[in-house]
Amino acid sequence: MATAARNDVREPAGRPAKYRFPPGFQRNLLWFALRKFRPANPILLFQHLARDYGDIAHYKIGWHHIVFLNHPDYIREVLVVQNDNFIKERTVQRTKMLLGEGMITSESAQHRTQRLVAQPAFHRQRISEYANTMVEEAARMRDSWRDAEERDIAIDMMHLTLNVVAQTLFATDLRGEVDELADAINRIMGLYNFLVMLPAAEWLVHVRPPGLAAFVRARKRIDAVVYRMIAAHRQRHSEGGSLLDLMLAASPDKSAVSEQSLRDQVITIFLAGYETVANALSWTWYLLSQNPECERLFHEEIDRELQGRLPTFNDVPRLRYVEMVLAESMRLYPPAWAMGRYARADFQLGDFFLPAKTTVLMSQFVTHRDARFFPDPLRFDPERFTPEARSRRTKLTYFPFGAGVRQCIGESFASMEGVLLLTTLAQKWKLRLVPGHRVEPEPLITLRPKYGMRMQVEARNQSKASRSADEQLCHRGA
Ligand code: HEM
Repeated sequence: MATAARNDVREPAGRPAKYRFPPGFQRNLLWFALRKFRPANPILLFQHLARDYGDIAHYKIGWHHIVFLNHPDYIREVLVVQNDNFIKERTVQRTKMLLGEGMITSESAQHRTQRLVAQPAFHRQRISEYANTMVEEAARMRDSWRDAEERDIAIDMMHLTLNVVAQTLFATDLRGEVDELADAINRIMGLYNFLVMLPAAEWLVHVRPPGLAAFVRARKRIDAVVYRMIAAHRQRHSEGGSLLDLMLAASPDKSAVSEQSLRDQVITIFLAGYETVANALSWTWYLLSQNPECERLFHEEIDRELQGRLPTFNDVPRLRYVEMVLAESMRLYPPAWAMGRYARADFQLGDFFLPAKTTVLMSQFVTHRDARFFPDPLRFDPERFTPEARSRRTKLTYFPFGAGVRQCIGESFASMEGVLLLTTLAQKWKLRLVPGHRVEPEPLITLRPKYGMRMQVEARNQSKASRSADEQLCHRGA
């Protein structure tokens, strides 16, 4: 097991001596957390802990013990080896206000059942059938863009991936409603940090004080779309094998409880399935725009492998560099930027013995940028993801999709979708960051570009899609 930078094991006052806590902040962070490391930027806190205390660090907020992990051995211990001892932590539990009891927030038997029901929709064979829809949606978007126009690519990617999830997994065309849905989701995201910190928020949403009324309204709008989708599906008596068909078949009746559970499951997959991929794509366009040599190799592969035709499922394995670009983008800007667990019982991590009810946090953003695992970590370098480099790397130094039994069910779906959407759009366009546009990651439920991603669309001439004289070197920092 890894050792921490400063291994000053201590036993905080008032705790039985049997607990051995890792090094960390001596001061209680209750007040500090609300001031210096405002909830708006927990990444600063995590980076600070990793820098000053090493692989495992301890702090307290109020009476609550928290440990932050920044080493693959510890991360594996919690997500894989001792997984039975952990449930999702408080901020995830808080998302129940929106997601209810879907696959992300549910636990134990309920989680196992939901995952079993959904699994067939994510099998390789089934996923291959989604490829054409993904490409069609991307082609529709690329044909609507005009040369030299400025766009917020973050919004475009959200719309694109929302449509893809709706059509592939739920066999529903949401094009008419996508603006409304995205707007309602954005409102909720805007309130997210506030809701996570607000005491008794779960109870307050029922009372609806002014600050939360916007949340309740936005949730109602999302619910309305989801319930319409379910009703339309029922009416069609669809048996097409979509995820929604599978969920409907597993739903015991039309009682209020079953309807609520169905809604929770649908909304969970919806939100998990579109926002993450959209962010991964926005960050990828940004990184490509900053690294012209990588962008050149990316275009070269696409032109060489496809010769101008639209990609299909069978092309995905040949679009290796595109896949490497996406993987490297998720290293620097992991859409799921942190994860957490809550201990049911006392547990041991390396030399440390920690009490039940401890929260354990880990951050893809921090670990993926650790120079021990990724030398020169701020450099954008897709070569880190050649098959050879991947096989040399220690597992769980890179974990954009999590690990263990709660590992992302949509990983293959997302990877294929990412490659197909990037490829289809890049066949026709290059994207250039609008000069002066501020780019900053905002850690909400996912890692969004805080000010959107304003980019100018530039037509590509595929016949001379290669080198241009002024192309600089690849590997601009993040
Ligand atoms: C780049 C895209 C994506 C990223 C980075 C991502 C990341 C993650 C991560 C880190 C987890 C584990 C959370 C934890 O253990 O606490 C997770 C779980 C999950 N993801 Fe994804 N995800 C992506 C795309 C998708 C897609 C496309 C779908 C569905 C269409 C999806 C559905 C889910 C679900 C349902 C879970 C909960 C799984 C469980 O607990 O059994 N995700 N995702």
